[in-house]
Amino acid sequence: MERDAIVVARDLVKVYGDGAEVRALDRLTMTVARGEFVAVMGPSGSGKSTLLHILGALDRPTGGEVWVDGQNLLQIRDLDTFRARTVGFVFQLHNLIPTLTARENVEVPMMGQPVGRRERRRRAEELLERVGLRDRMNHLPNQMSGGERQRVAIARALANRPALLLADEPTGNLDSQSGAEVVGLMRELNRDLETTIIIVTHDPSVARRTDRILLMRDGRIIGERRAEEMTE
Ligand SMILES: Nc1ncnc2c1ncn2[C@@H]1O[C@H](COP(=O)(O)OP(=O)(O)OP(=O)(O)O)[C@@H](O)[C@H]1O
Ligand SMILES: [Mg+2]
Repeated sequence: MERDAIVVARDLVKVYGDGAEVRALDRLTMTVARGEFVAVMGPSGSGKSTLLHILGALDRPTGGEVWVDGQNLLQIRDLDTFRARTVGFVFQLHNLIPTLTARENVEVPMMGQPVGRRERRRRAEELLERVGLRDRMNHLPNQMSGGERQRVAIARALANRPALLLADEPTGNLDSQSGAEVVGLMRELNRDLETTIIIVTHDPSVARRTDRILLMRDGRIIGERRAEEMTE
Protein backbone atom coordinates (compact mmCIF):
# COMPACT_ATOMS: atom_id res chain seq x y z
CA MET A 1 0.00 0.00 0.00
CA GLU A 2 1.26 3.49 -0.85
CA ARG A 3 2.94 5.09 2.14
CA ASP A 4 0.97 8.28 2.48
CA ALA A 5 -2.37 6.90 1.30
CA ILE A 6 -5.06 6.76 3.95
CA VAL A 7 -7.62 5.13 1.66
CA VAL A 8 -6.83 2.53 -0.95
CA ALA A 9 -9.65 0.69 -2.69
CA ARG A 10 -8.98 -1.82 -5.46
CA ASP A 11 -11.59 -3.36 -7.71
CA LEU A 12 -14.32 -2.85 -5.15
CA VAL A 13 -17.56 -4.58 -6.02
CA LYS A 14 -20.81 -4.30 -4.15
CA VAL A 15 -23.81 -6.29 -5.24
CA TYR A 16 -27.07 -5.81 -3.35
CA GLY A 17 -29.85 -8.36 -3.20
CA ASP A 18 -29.96 -11.91 -4.42
CA GLY A 19 -33.01 -11.85 -6.69
CA ALA A 20 -32.91 -8.73 -8.84
CA GLU A 21 -29.28 -7.89 -8.26
CA VAL A 22 -27.99 -4.34 -8.22
CA ARG A 23 -24.31 -3.82 -8.90
CA ALA A 24 -23.81 -0.65 -6.85
CA LEU A 25 -20.01 -0.68 -7.11
CA ASP A 26 -18.38 -2.14 -10.18
CA ARG A 27 -14.63 -2.66 -9.79
CA LEU A 28 -14.06 0.75 -8.28
CA THR A 29 -10.46 1.75 -7.66
CA MET A 30 -9.39 4.88 -5.81
CA THR A 31 -6.69 6.31 -3.55
CA VAL A 32 -6.92 9.20 -1.13
CA ALA A 33 -3.76 10.72 0.34
CA ARG A 34 -3.51 11.46 4.03
CA GLY A 35 -4.63 15.01 4.69
CA GLU A 36 -6.61 15.41 1.47
CA PHE A 37 -10.09 16.93 1.23
CA VAL A 38 -11.85 15.08 -1.56
CA ALA A 39 -15.32 15.43 -3.04
CA VAL A 40 -17.26 12.62 -4.68
CA MET A 41 -19.86 13.65 -7.26
CA GLY A 42 -22.09 11.63 -9.51
CA PRO A 43 -25.70 11.00 -10.47
CA SER A 44 -28.22 9.56 -8.06
CA GLY A 45 -27.72 5.81 -7.81
CA SER A 46 -24.10 5.89 -8.98
CA GLY A 47 -22.92 4.29 -5.71
CA LYS A 48 -21.61 7.24 -3.69
CA SER A 49 -23.30 6.33 -0.40
CA THR A 50 -22.44 2.68 -0.89
CA LEU A 51 -18.78 3.64 -1.27
CA LEU A 52 -18.82 5.73 1.91
CA HIS A 53 -20.53 2.95 3.87
CA ILE A 54 -17.83 0.52 2.82
CA LEU A 55 -14.99 2.92 3.64
CA GLY A 56 -16.55 3.43 7.08
CA ALA A 57 -17.01 -0.32 7.59
CA LEU A 58 -20.77 0.11 7.91
CA ASP A 59 -21.09 -2.37 5.07
CA ARG A 60 -18.89 -5.01 3.46
CA PRO A 61 -17.91 -5.18 -0.20
CA THR A 62 -18.86 -8.22 -2.25
CA GLY A 63 -15.39 -8.21 -3.81
CA GLY A 64 -12.14 -6.30 -4.04
CA GLU A 65 -9.83 -4.90 -1.43
CA VAL A 66 -9.97 -1.86 0.81
CA TRP A 67 -7.52 -0.37 3.29
CA VAL A 68 -8.24 2.55 5.57
CA ASP A 69 -5.50 4.03 7.72
CA GLY A 70 -3.36 0.95 7.17
CA GLN A 71 -6.09 -1.50 8.11
CA ASN A 72 -7.42 -4.08 5.72
CA LEU A 73 -11.18 -3.77 6.22
CA LEU A 74 -11.80 -7.33 5.11
CA GLN A 75 -9.47 -8.73 7.74
CA ILE A 76 -10.07 -6.39 10.61
CA ARG A 77 -11.05 -8.16 13.83
CA ASP A 78 -12.37 -5.38 15.95
CA LEU A 79 -14.80 -3.52 13.71
CA ASP A 80 -16.38 -1.63 16.59
CA THR A 81 -13.07 -0.04 17.53
CA PHE A 82 -12.38 0.83 13.91
CA ARG A 83 -15.81 2.46 13.55
CA ALA A 84 -15.44 4.32 16.81
CA ARG A 85 -11.87 5.56 16.46
CA THR A 86 -10.67 5.60 12.90
CA VAL A 87 -13.63 7.10 11.05
CA GLY A 88 -16.25 9.73 11.75
CA PHE A 89 -19.53 10.01 9.82
CA VAL A 90 -21.70 12.99 8.98
CA PHE A 91 -24.96 12.34 7.14
CA GLN A 92 -27.44 14.52 5.29
CA LEU A 93 -29.76 14.31 8.28
CA HIS A 94 -27.83 15.13 11.40
CA ASN A 95 -29.17 12.17 13.45
CA LEU A 96 -28.63 14.00 16.73
CA ILE A 97 -30.38 12.58 19.77
CA PRO A 98 -33.30 14.99 20.31
CA THR A 99 -33.37 14.72 24.10
CA LEU A 100 -29.66 15.49 24.55
CA THR A 101 -28.01 18.91 24.43
CA ALA A 102 -25.37 19.74 21.85
CA ARG A 103 -22.62 18.99 24.36
CA GLU A 104 -24.15 15.68 25.40
CA ASN A 105 -24.57 14.67 21.76
CA VAL A 106 -20.87 15.29 21.14
CA GLU A 107 -20.02 13.25 24.24
CA VAL A 108 -21.94 10.17 23.10
CA PRO A 109 -19.25 8.62 20.85
CA MET A 110 -16.68 8.97 23.65
CA MET A 111 -18.76 6.80 25.96
CA GLY A 112 -17.46 3.26 25.80
CA GLN A 113 -14.04 4.66 24.88
CA PRO A 114 -11.26 5.06 27.42
CA VAL A 115 -12.08 8.72 28.09
CA GLY A 116 -13.03 9.87 31.59
CA ARG A 117 -16.12 11.93 32.28
CA ARG A 118 -14.36 15.24 32.77
CA GLU A 119 -12.13 14.76 29.74
CA ARG A 120 -15.19 13.85 27.71
CA ARG A 121 -16.89 17.06 28.69
CA ARG A 122 -13.76 19.12 28.08
CA ARG A 123 -13.29 17.67 24.61
CA ALA A 124 -16.95 18.18 23.70
CA GLU A 125 -16.76 21.82 24.74
CA GLU A 126 -13.53 22.35 22.85
CA LEU A 127 -15.01 20.82 19.70
CA LEU A 128 -18.19 22.85 19.95
CA GLU A 129 -16.09 25.98 20.30
CA ARG A 130 -14.12 24.98 17.25
CA VAL A 131 -17.29 24.67 15.19
CA GLY A 132 -18.46 28.07 16.42
CA LEU A 133 -21.11 26.92 18.89
CA ARG A 134 -19.67 28.10 22.18
CA ASP A 135 -23.01 29.67 23.10
CA ARG A 136 -25.15 26.74 21.96
CA MET A 137 -23.63 23.98 24.13
CA ASN A 138 -26.73 23.50 26.24
CA HIS A 139 -29.26 23.80 23.44
CA LEU A 140 -31.32 20.85 22.30
CA PRO A 141 -31.24 20.00 18.58
CA ASN A 142 -34.70 21.51 18.00
CA GLN A 143 -33.47 24.77 19.51
CA MET A 144 -30.85 25.15 16.79
CA SER A 145 -30.85 25.99 13.09
CA GLY A 146 -30.16 23.34 10.45
CA GLY A 147 -26.63 24.64 9.92
CA GLU A 148 -25.94 24.66 13.66
CA ARG A 149 -27.23 21.11 14.02
CA GLN A 150 -24.97 20.00 11.20
CA ARG A 151 -22.02 21.66 12.93
CA VAL A 152 -22.87 19.71 16.10
CA ALA A 153 -22.94 16.56 13.97
CA ILE A 154 -19.45 17.42 12.67
CA ALA A 155 -18.18 18.00 16.22
CA ARG A 156 -19.66 14.66 17.23
CA ALA A 157 -18.02 12.91 14.27
CA LEU A 158 -14.65 14.32 15.39
CA ALA A 159 -15.05 13.39 19.05
CA ASN A 160 -12.69 10.42 18.94
CA ARG A 161 -10.22 12.25 16.67
CA PRO A 162 -10.73 10.07 13.63
CA ALA A 163 -8.13 10.01 10.89
CA LEU A 164 -10.89 10.06 8.27
CA LEU A 165 -14.14 12.01 8.17
CA LEU A 166 -16.80 10.69 5.80
CA ALA A 167 -19.62 13.09 4.96
CA ASP A 168 -22.60 12.05 2.84
CA GLU A 169 -24.30 15.18 1.46
CA PRO A 170 -23.89 17.07 4.73
CA THR A 171 -25.13 20.27 3.08
CA GLY A 172 -27.98 18.61 1.18
CA ASN A 173 -30.67 19.90 3.53
CA LEU A 174 -29.22 23.36 4.09
CA ASP A 175 -29.77 26.68 2.34
CA SER A 176 -26.77 27.83 0.32
CA GLN A 177 -25.47 30.21 3.00
CA SER A 178 -25.50 27.54 5.76
CA GLY A 179 -24.10 25.01 3.32
CA ALA A 180 -21.20 27.32 2.51
CA GLU A 181 -20.52 27.77 6.23
CA VAL A 182 -20.50 24.03 6.84
CA VAL A 183 -18.09 23.32 3.98
CA GLY A 184 -15.93 26.28 5.06
CA LEU A 185 -15.77 24.74 8.52
CA MET A 186 -14.77 21.38 7.06
CA ARG A 187 -12.04 23.10 5.07
CA GLU A 188 -10.72 24.65 8.29
CA LEU A 189 -10.84 21.37 10.21
CA ASN A 190 -9.05 19.62 7.37
CA ARG A 191 -6.29 22.22 7.51
CA ASP A 192 -5.99 22.62 11.29
CA LEU A 193 -6.59 19.07 12.53
CA GLU A 194 -5.19 17.41 9.39
CA THR A 195 -8.27 15.21 9.24
CA THR A 196 -8.68 13.61 5.83
CA ILE A 197 -12.19 14.32 4.54
CA ILE A 198 -14.28 12.64 1.85
CA ILE A 199 -17.49 14.49 1.11
CA VAL A 200 -20.28 13.36 -1.21
CA THR A 201 -22.07 16.31 -2.72
CA HIS A 202 -24.33 17.28 -5.61
CA ASP A 203 -23.40 20.92 -5.21
CA PRO A 204 -20.58 22.22 -7.44
CA SER A 205 -20.04 25.20 -5.12
CA VAL A 206 -19.31 22.75 -2.28
CA ALA A 207 -17.08 20.53 -4.43
CA ARG A 208 -15.09 23.56 -5.53
CA ARG A 209 -13.91 24.12 -1.95
CA THR A 210 -12.15 20.73 -1.82
CA ASP A 211 -8.74 19.71 -3.22
CA ARG A 212 -9.92 17.15 -5.73
CA ILE A 213 -13.19 15.89 -7.13
CA LEU A 214 -13.81 12.25 -7.99
CA LEU A 215 -16.54 11.71 -10.57
CA MET A 216 -18.61 8.56 -10.16
CA ARG A 217 -20.93 6.84 -12.58
CA ASP A 218 -22.41 3.35 -12.57
CA GLY A 219 -20.37 2.23 -9.58
CA ARG A 220 -17.01 3.40 -10.85
CA ILE A 221 -14.76 6.42 -10.69
CA ILE A 222 -14.85 7.71 -14.24
CA GLY A 223 -12.55 10.66 -13.81
CA GLU A 224 -11.37 13.41 -11.56
CA ARG A 225 -11.01 17.18 -11.54
CA ARG A 226 -8.94 19.62 -9.60
CA ALA A 227 -11.35 21.86 -7.71
CA GLU A 228 -10.19 24.90 -9.67
CA GLU A 229 -11.28 23.23 -12.91
CA MET A 230 -14.90 23.22 -11.74
CA THR A 231 -16.71 25.78 -13.79
CA GLU A 232 -20.44 25.42 -13.26
N1 LIG B 1 -29.65 -1.65 0.75
C1 LIG B 1 -29.80 -1.71 -0.58
N2 LIG B 1 -30.40 -2.77 -1.17
C2 LIG B 1 -30.51 -2.86 -2.51
N3 LIG B 1 -30.08 -1.92 -3.37
C3 LIG B 1 -29.48 -0.84 -2.85
C4 LIG B 1 -29.31 -0.68 -1.44
N4 LIG B 1 -28.67 0.50 -1.21
C5 LIG B 1 -28.46 1.04 -2.44
N5 LIG B 1 -28.93 0.24 -3.42
C6 LIG B 1 -28.84 0.48 -4.87
O1 LIG B 1 -27.46 0.63 -5.18
C7 LIG B 1 -27.26 1.68 -6.12
C8 LIG B 1 -26.32 2.72 -5.53
O2 LIG B 1 -26.97 3.35 -4.43
P1 LIG B 1 -26.30 4.50 -3.58
O3 LIG B 1 -27.21 4.79 -2.45
O4 LIG B 1 -24.91 4.13 -3.27
O5 LIG B 1 -26.30 5.70 -4.64
P2 LIG B 1 -25.93 7.24 -4.46
O6 LIG B 1 -24.91 7.56 -5.49
O7 LIG B 1 -25.58 7.50 -3.05
O8 LIG B 1 -27.28 7.98 -4.84
P3 LIG B 1 -27.94 9.34 -4.26
O9 LIG B 1 -27.21 10.47 -4.93
O10 LIG B 1 -29.36 9.27 -4.71
O11 LIG B 1 -27.79 9.33 -2.77
C9 LIG B 1 -28.64 2.20 -6.46
O12 LIG B 1 -29.07 1.59 -7.64
C10 LIG B 1 -29.50 1.76 -5.29
O13 LIG B 1 -30.82 1.56 -5.69
MG1 LIG C 1 -26.47 8.65 -1.52
